[in-house]
Amino acid sequence: MTIYNSSILASDIPEQRLEEMYGDEDYYWYLRSPEFQETFLKPLADCVNNVEGSTLDVCCGEGQLAQFVEGKYCGFDGSRRAILKAQRRYPVSEYPDKWFIVRRLEETHSIGDFDFEKIVFGGVLHCLIAPESRVDFIRSFQDLYGATHFFVYDLERLDTSDLDNEFACVSSYVNEIPSLEHWQRIVTKRKILCYRYE
Ligand SMILES: C[S@@+](CC[C@H](N)C(=O)[O-])C[C@H]1O[C@@H](n2cnc3c(N)ncnc32)[C@H](O)[C@@H]1O
Repeated sequence: MTIYNSSILASDIPEQRLEEMYGDEDYYWYLRSPEFQETFLKPLADCVNNVEGSTLDVCCGEGQLAQFVEGKYCGFDGSRRAILKAQRRYPVSEYPDKWFIVRRLEETHSIGDFDFEKIVFGGVLHCLIAPESRVDFIRSFQDLYGATHFFVYDLERLDTSDLDNEFACVSSYVNEIPSLEHWQRIVTKRKILCYRYE
């Protein structure tokens, strides 16, 4: 079984910083906005829903994608605050198919004895995983969870040539949020890719 350590990270954000981002600062406010959900999260979910099986959402934040994904879904994130928000929004009593756990990327080996056919890497690769570790990192989810497909939703400028050489790209497109003044600090053009593990 793969045991990660912080050498896989491009950016080792301390736990305390992750909590601040989901506190008053509300760093990821845009993920809740209708514009963002329509332009990126719904098309991503459509792509995910086209493939059979259950979904593991890597670094799910507050679990914004969960509302659009059908079937069994698990999200994990390193921020306790983000996961608490997700758990409050999706109580197990009402959503027995959706669950959320606190886990850092460098510890994904400990999620448990589950299968996930689909793995979502949303906003993870461009900033969090060291480029030289990306293929091994992504491959490890196939080994650990028997995944058949993975999905990348990320900045348009993310270079995916390493993934294209290693995996079969099933679909690829780029979406753009119509420019709005308050979106200035956010990169508005993003790609949504579906790959098959081979
Ligand atoms: C750019 S956001 C992505 C959120 C969401 N998946 C999306 O599609 O936009 C990055 C997320 O990674 C989480 N994160 C950052 N470093 C982490 C680490 N080492 N382990 C686990 N989660 C981490 C943050 O808490 C944040 O929710």
